[in-house]
Formats: sequence, C-alpha cells, structure tokens
Amino acid sequence: MVETDLLSLEGKVALITGGTSGIGLAITETYIQHGAHVVIVGRNKKKGESISKRLDRPQSRCLFFQCDAGDQEQVKTVCLQVLEKFGKVDVLVLNAATEYTEAISEIKMAHWQRVLDVNLSGPFYFIRNLVDSMIKQKKGNIIFTSSAVTLTGAGGGMHYPASKAGLKGIANRINYELLGKGIRANLISPGVIDTPMLRKKYPDNPEVNKHLESQIPYGRIGKPQDIANLALFLASDLSDYICGQDVVIDGGRTFYRHPKGSLASKNDDQNDR
Ligand SMILES: NC(=O)c1ccc[n+]([C@@H]2O[C@H](COP(=O)([O-])OP(=O)(O)OC[C@H]3O[C@@H](n4cnc5c(N)ncnc54)[C@H](OP(=O)(O)O)[C@@H]3O)[C@@H](O)[C@H]2O)c1
Repeated sequence: MVETDLLSLEGKVALITGGTSGIGLAITETYIQHGAHVVIVGRNKKKGESISKRLDRPQSRCLFFQCDAGDQEQVKTVCLQVLEKFGKVDVLVLNAATEYTEAISEIKMAHWQRVLDVNLSGPFYFIRNLVDSMIKQKKGNIIFTSSAVTLTGAGGGMHYPASKAGLKGIANRINYELLGKGIRANLISPGVIDTPMLRKKYPDNPEVNKHLESQIPYGRIGKPQDIANLALFLASDLSDYICGQDVVIDGGRTFYRHPKGSLASKNDDQNDR
C-alpha cells in the first residue's frame, strides 16, 4: 500500500484563471482536495467570492481575485497582490477564454481583437508578471487549457482556434528558454466538455446531447473532471519530467468523420468546436 499521496499538492500555490466555472472550477476543487492553496481569477465578483467562500479552508486557502484576463493593467495588479499574499505561484493554470461563433466573412474586428486579448495575450500577461518569481524560486509549472479545435478548426470561428494554437507557441518558448531554470509548460486540449460555455451554444436537452454524443466515439460528452484529472497530474510532482506536451481529451472526437467525409456537417457549421 502506498502511504504517501503522490498527487499531493500540499504547500503549492496555484493560480487558475477562469477558476470559477466549468473546467476551471473542477480544477480548483480538485487542487483544493489535494491540499493546494488556490487563487481563482474571473470577472464576476459575486460568483467568484461565493465559490472561494465555499472552498476556502485553513490548510488549503481559496481566494478570489477579480480581473479581466484581457486587461494587462488588471492582470499586473492581481499578480502583484497574489505574490504579496503568498510570496509565490507554483502552478499557473491559464484557462480563461472567450469565443464568438462567426463565419470568417462575418468576423467583427472588435471580436477578433477581444478573443486574442483574452485567450492569447491574457496568458502572456500572467506569465510576464509571474515568471521572475518562478525563476527566483527555480520552479514553475504552467498549464494551458487549449482546445482540440487547434487540430480540427471546427469551432468558435477563426479567432478562437487561432488564439488556442498560439498557446502552443507560448508553451514551446517557455520550455525552450526556461526549462533549465526549472520552469515547464504543458497544454490540455479538451474536446466537447459539459460546461456553461458549451451550453451557451448547445442547450442541455436529449436531442442536442444525442447529436453531440453521435460525434464522440467514446459515446459521452466530456465532464469538467475529465480535464481536472489531468490538470492534477500535471500539477503534481509525478509529472515532473513532462514538458511541452499537448494532451487531447475528447473521447476520440478528433477521429470522428461526418458521413460525407468532411469534419463538419452543413448543420453543425461554425457551431462545432
Ligand atoms: N467546454 C468545452 O467544451 C471546451 C472545449 C475546448 C476548450 N475549452 C476551454 O476550456 C477553458 C474553460 O472553458 P469552460 O468551458 O470551462 O468555460 P466556462 O464554464 O464558460 O468558464 C469560463 C471561465 O473563464 C472566466 N473568464 C471568461 N472570460 C474571462 C476574462 N476576460 N477574464 C477573466 N476570466 C474570464 C469565466 O469567469 P467570468 O465570467 O466571471 O469572467 C469562467 O470562470 C477555456 O479555455 C475554453 O476555451 C472548453
């Protein structure tokens, strides 16, 4: 019998953007269960504070910081506050994202910019403000929530997959430049996961679920916990030697082909992710 918890996060401080909903919330709950202190970041103060109040405990603090991840000044302020409070961030989960479902010819320039600001520049702002403290402690673990759309292009217009693919470049650069200083980065690429973001486009009813499930060889829609399980492993010392990986968690959906042979049917159009 193994006596030590190999997945223990005790003593670690994690910052999770978008830790107040869906995938980010499942990661937050999982990290707290395994003993980490967790800072959650989001825009909705009421929601964030009620979640942090529910999860906060003396051995594993859960604190909410209000911040728009696409606003570099707000990100800077939050990072300074977190470093002041905890002195370090060991695990940085860059998970917050936004999307607009628009055909290429209809993409609004403001939407293009907003998606890149939140999904691509946002992670850069957090890294830029926290990397020196990671270099100083010779340890840092950065986990990105990317998306399987980087493989298929099927979802969230053109801005969303572009922003998610950009994260791979950021992760590569971190590993290239900073692995020797103890800092590593990996990506998780979810497929169709049952979260508020998904349900904005696909209402939770039997007909819609059947349609989604028909495209997933494993036969079910993903759960936020499916993603949190890998995020736990990646945050733990068990994964210490793993870097630069992009793990798709999609129940095999990237293997799915519509009967006509294309990735997206006419009906799915840009609604697919
Ligand atoms: N669900 C899926 O099927 C799926 C598939 C592939 C990839 N993903 C990725 O998984 C991640 C989590 O998505 P989810 O499905 O869990 O979505 P979700 O339930 O809508 O949660 C999104 C989280 O991000 C926060 N957020 C959004 N915009 C923000 C901003 N500008 N600044 C700060 N926080 C912001 C939200 O909080 P506030 O609203 O309070 O700001 C919320 O906590 C995203 O990166 C998404 O692209 C999801």
